[in-house]
This record gives sequence, structure tokens and C-alpha cells, in this order.
Amino acid sequence: MTSGADPEAAGVDDRDLDRVRRAVLAGAATLWRDLPWRATRDPWLVLVSEVMLQQTQAPRVVEPFGRFAARFPTPAACAAAGAGEVVRAWAGLGYNRRAVNLHRASVVLVERHGGRVPAELDALEGLPGVGPYTARAVLSFGHGAAVGVVDTNVARVLARAVAGRPLSRAVAQRLADRLVPAQDAWRFNQALFDLGARCCTARDPRCGACPAAASCRWTRAGGAEPDPAATARRRQGAFAGSDRQGRGRLVAALRLAPVSVPALPAAAGWPGDGLRALRIATALVDEGIARWHEDDLALA
Ligand code: ADE
Repeated sequence: MTSGADPEAAGVDDRDLDRVRRAVLAGAATLWRDLPWRATRDPWLVLVSEVMLQQTQAPRVVEPFGRFAARFPTPAACAAAGAGEVVRAWAGLGYNRRAVNLHRASVVLVERHGGRVPAELDALEGLPGVGPYTARAVLSFGHGAAVGVVDTNVARVLARAVAGRPLSRAVAQRLADRLVPAQDAWRFNQALFDLGARCCTARDPRCGACPAAASCRWTRAGGAEPDPAATARRRQGAFAGSDRQGRGRLVAALRLAPVSVPALPAAAGWPGDGLRALRIATALVDEGIARWHEDDLALA
């Protein structure tokens, strides 16, 4: 990969990239996490894992991924099931809209792509619930393409180690595309995740244990403040008492049985707040997760 004539990436030359690339590969085995989705290159299962990992940390994805992969091993198996069944199999992950989108994606794969996951960026980004990040992850991990895969953690590693300054998503992607080695793209991209999870953490990074410390711009600058990744940090709103918490409780109840309108507030965990519970129920119906069945709310 070359720097080309990209003025926004001009602050990083190819020798800097080469140093970081070598350090990441050299440290890959030490930081490696044996995660079940790394045992497959099947693009469908890669897509499933990446959708699960969009908003959920890796350890919490391990068990649901195995269960889901056994139940829906192909796009056709998923498309043949109802959306409600796919939401049920999503138990433990939250953000159930992802399950509905994954089901919709499986239908598109069957109807328009012969039941296969395409290897073109445009086609992948055209699938419900698949954005630029997930599309590139499927290209790299499922199809072996040498493209950069930039999630929040990788963006942090790039800002600190490679650029030593805050990066926009677009520039981070271009740097990642330059950084990824053509021959070892799969392992390299996985290794960047491990580096982000184990050493180059958002808070209290463990630079002493980091294989890339010697080639890291930020470390070489003495870990100067501000942290180049600080602007990329976003605080999640409090979960307790949030609509998201109520949604999660309601979907968990629906997995067991339909819930009648009078029982909605208690099922959502807000016994005194019928209006709020009804608003959540309506949103679940609008999103295709649930449906009304006479006066009961049921999974779609
Ligand atoms: N987050 C997103 N994709 C991942 C992967 N393949 N391994 C670990 N964490 C990830």
C-alpha cells in the first residue's frame, strides 16, 4: 500500500507505517484472543459476528454467536425463519433492531445474491444494517480482502500510534488502508483489535505491555496531553432508567410470551408509567420487532 498523493494523510510517511505494521504483526501472537468467529472464514458467519459486535463487547458475543450460528448456519436458514424467531435467537445481546436487520439482510441475500454474501463493498453496504465498517469487516474477514477495518478501538490505535493526532473517520480509514499488509490482512486486522482491547485501551492504556510502543507516535512524544484519541471518546448515556433498559426488559418478556396492554408498564419495569411503556411498544412495532395481536403485544 502506498501513500499516494493524499494531502490529509501526508503527516504519516510510509516508513512510519512500516514500523507500526511490523510491530503489530510481531505482537499479534502474544495479544491473540481465541474468539469463536475467528475460527471461520464463512462470510455469512463473519457478517453475523460483526453485526453482533457492533454494539456489544466480544466476551458477551461468544455464547450467542455459537448458538445463532448453529441455528442459522446460512442466509437461507435465517431467511426461512420469521423475524420473531431471529429476535428470539438474539437473546443476551440487546439492540434487537440488529436482529431484525440481519433477518432482512438474509432475505436480500437469498433473493438477490443467490444465498451468498457478496464480495463487493457497494453490494454489502446495500444490505440492511450493514454500514461502511461492517462491510469492510466482511470483506477482510470473510473474503480475505486487504482493506482497513476501522471500528472505535482501531481508530484509537491509529490516532495514537500512527498519527499522534486526532483523526476524522475518513482519514483513519485511508491510513488503515495504507497500513494493512496485502499478504497478511486477516491476521493484521484481527491483531489491531487485540491491541485496542488489551493495550491501547481508551482509559489507562498499558503502554508498557504494548508491542507497538517503540514505534508509537504518542508514546514517543511522552504520552503528551491531550490524548490524540480523546476527542473520539464518546460517553454513553446512563443505562439505568433509560428507554433502552425498558425496551430490553420488554423484549425479554416478549421472548417468553405475549404481553397484554395493561401488563406493558410492569413488563418494561415502569409500573407507574403506562404512556412511556406504550411509546416503547409502539416503537418496537414500527421497527418490525413486535406486532399487535388484538390487545396483546407479541414478537413479530
Ligand atoms: N470487534 C469487531 N470485530 C472483531 C473481531 N473480529 N475480533 C474482536 N473484536 C472485534
